[in-house]
Amino acid sequence: MDIGTVIMNKRKALGYTQQSLADKLNISFQAVSKWENGTNYPEMDMLPIIASVLDTSIDSLLGYKSFVHSDYDKRYDMKDYYWGITPNSLCYEIIKLQPPVKPLKVLDIGCGEGKDAVFLARNGYMVTAFDLSETGIEKGKRLAEKCNTYVDFLKADLTDFRATEMYDIVFSSGVFHFIKPEIRKELISNLQEHTNKNGIHAINVFIEKPFIEIPPDKDSNRFRWKSGELFMYYSDWKFHKMEEIIFDCNSGGIPHKHCMDTMIIERMQ
Ligand SMILES: C[S@@+](CC[C@H](N)C(=O)[O-])C[C@H]1O[C@@H](n2cnc3c(N)ncnc32)[C@H](O)[C@@H]1O
Repeated sequence: MDIGTVIMNKRKALGYTQQSLADKLNISFQAVSKWENGTNYPEMDMLPIIASVLDTSIDSLLGYKSFVHSDYDKRYDMKDYYWGITPNSLCYEIIKLQPPVKPLKVLDIGCGEGKDAVFLARNGYMVTAFDLSETGIEKGKRLAEKCNTYVDFLKADLTDFRATEMYDIVFSSGVFHFIKPEIRKELISNLQEHTNKNGIHAINVFIEKPFIEIPPDKDSNRFRWKSGELFMYYSDWKFHKMEEIIFDCNSGGIPHKHCMDTMIIERMQ
């Protein structure tokens, strides 16, 4: 992403207009507009100030995402597949609801080592899948190759990623707790706007419950969701599945529980 797009995404995520960002930077809104439409670039000495106002780093502004590492890189650095290669049951529900009778485009957000992306690609979908973990992405590519299929795997940070093309299916499992509450609305709106009519979102999120202990495998940057919070963003979509479950987990070798909200919903207009 170019610097103008990064500035625009960060500005919107923070709820600033071009004018309010310009006021904070003590410049004209036309200057911000020119950055965002790519007709001009910020002066070098403005970068630290822009980064500070937009609550980000200069690296991020300049799109140097490859230096950001995922906590998962270490976990995925093993011969076997950390999450196995059995697809998530949501994938079967996607196939039932939107069988690939025509070329359907899938976006898998936080694809890990690619088991679900590869499964969907093998079943005839055109899949783009991204994750912050380079190790995960490399393993995903190897899995796709082994299965004689192709997935457009890329390394990206969902905090910065914004869809620019249309998809029929947006899938994400076990990932949305990495999205800070303050950018959820903007990020989900972007995904909704880039979903074709009758396209679906199949997403699950970890839920915070006062009676469930914080899991021992807690990631430092985890922002669990409130019950029902995800569903509220989709009040004008058709719900095919909307459930909340509590389940036992043994990841990391310590038995614990998780609460999870899952939905499959369809864009109707
Ligand atoms: C619990 S794993 C789920 C992986 C995969 N969806 C699956 O079910 O096998 C969470 C994944 O989110 C990825 N992740 C964490 N923060 C991320 C971010 N900011 N942008 C993109 N991916 C991220 C991690 O690298 C990890 O692969």
